[in-house]
Amino acid sequence: MLKDNGIFFNEPSISAEALRNFLSDCSRKFKELCILDAALEISLFDHLDSLKSADELSSEIGINYVILKNMCEILANLGFIKKEDESFKNTQLSSYYLKSNSFFYQKEVLKNIKNGFELWRRLTNVLENGPIKILEENCFQDNLIHSLASEILCGELQKTVRIIEKFPEFRKAKKLLDLGGGHGLCSIAFTRLNKDLEAYIFDFPDVIKDTEDYIKKFKAKRINVISGNLFKDDIGNGYDIVFFSYNPGGKNPNLVPKINSSLKEGGLFITKHAFYHRGEGSRDYLLDVEWNLSAFEGVQKGSKIYSFAEDFSYEDYLDLLEKYFSIERIVEEDEFGFYSYLSKFGDTLGSKIIIAKKKFGSAF
Ligand SMILES: C[S@@+](CC[C@H](N)C(=O)[O-])C[C@H]1O[C@@H](n2cnc3c(N)ncnc32)[C@H](O)[C@@H]1O
Repeated sequence: MLKDNGIFFNEPSISAEALRNFLSDCSRKFKELCILDAALEISLFDHLDSLKSADELSSEIGINYVILKNMCEILANLGFIKKEDESFKNTQLSSYYLKSNSFFYQKEVLKNIKNGFELWRRLTNVLENGPIKILEENCFQDNLIHSLASEILCGELQKTVRIIEKFPEFRKAKKLLDLGGGHGLCSIAFTRLNKDLEAYIFDFPDVIKDTEDYIKKFKAKRINVISGNLFKDDIGNGYDIVFFSYNPGGKNPNLVPKINSSLKEGGLFITKHAFYHRGEGSRDYLLDVEWNLSAFEGVQKGSKIYSFAEDFSYEDYLDLLEKYFSIERIVEEDEFGFYSYLSKFGDTLGSKIIIAKKKFGSAF
C-alpha cells in the first residue's frame, strides 16, 4: 500500500517546473490565438486605420468594452496594433495581413489552423479507431484552397514565378497546364508575365468553382479551367509547359508518362513538391501525426507528411525523369519558400522545384 504520510510536508524530489512551464506556454499561446481569432471575427483591424480609444471602438463595433480594452492591450503587446496614449492603431503588419480588404489578408490561414485543431481534438479516437476518412476533394474544398492562396501570396508565389520567368521556354510558351492548380494564382501570374500565354487550370469539379472566383477576382485573362481527376481523366495535350505544384500525385511515377505525353517536344515539366530522399526519416513528427489523423478515400497516404503509398523517392523520381527529360534546374526551398513554418498542412517543408525539358523523341 502506498503511504501518503510525507507528501504534505516534503516537496517532491523531482521539480514540476518543466511540465508547468510547458503547460503554461501552451495555455497562454492558445488564449492569444483566441484573441487574434476573435479580433479577425469582429473585423477589429478594419476599424483601426486611425487611432481610436477602446471606448470609441466598443461603440463603433457594438461590443463589450471591458474585454475589448484588454484584447487591445494584448494585441498591442503582441505587436499587431500599437498604442499611443490611450488609443490604438494598426501596425504595418496588420494593415497588410489582417485587414479584410487587403490582397494579403490571412484570416483563411487561421481558419485552416483551426480546422486542423478539430482533427487534433480527435487524436485519441484516431489512435483507437483509425484515421478519419475524408474525400480528398472535400479536403481541398473546405477552406484549404483559400488558405493556400493567402499564404502563397506572402512571398512564395512571387519568388516561384520569377524563377520560372527566366527560362526562355517560358517566355516563348503559348499553352500551359496548371495541374491541380487549385486557386489558380500561379497561372494568373504566369499569364500576366507572358501576354501570349493561354493557361489551363485542371482540378476537381468542386475546386474549379473556387478557381473561377479567383479568376474573376483578379480579372484574369486567357485562363481556362478543366474539371476532372488527374489520376483518371484526360489532361489534354500540346502544352509548352506543365506546371505541377503541391499535389498528391507529385511523386507518383505513374503520372510521369501521362505528363510527358501531354507536352510538346522540348516542353517544360515544372514540378514543385516535398520529395523525400531514399531512406529519409521524419522531417517533422508533429506534422506526420497530423497527416495520419485523416485518410483520403482516393489515394493512400504514407506515414510522413505529404507522402503517399505509391510515391517514388527523390532519387528514383529523378532517375525516371531523366529517361524522358533533361533536368534543366533544381531549385531548393530557400529560394522560394519560407524558413519559418506555421507547422501545419500547407507549409513548404523542404520542397524543391525541378524544371525538366522533354527530350526530343522521348514520347512514352
Ligand atoms: C495543395 S493544393 C495545391 C494548389 C496549387 N497548385 C498550389 O501550388 O498552391 C493541391 C491541389 O491539387 C488538387 N488535386 C488533388 N488531387 C487531385 C486529383 N486527383 N485530380 C485533380 N486535382 C487534384 C486539389 O484539389 C488542390 O487544388
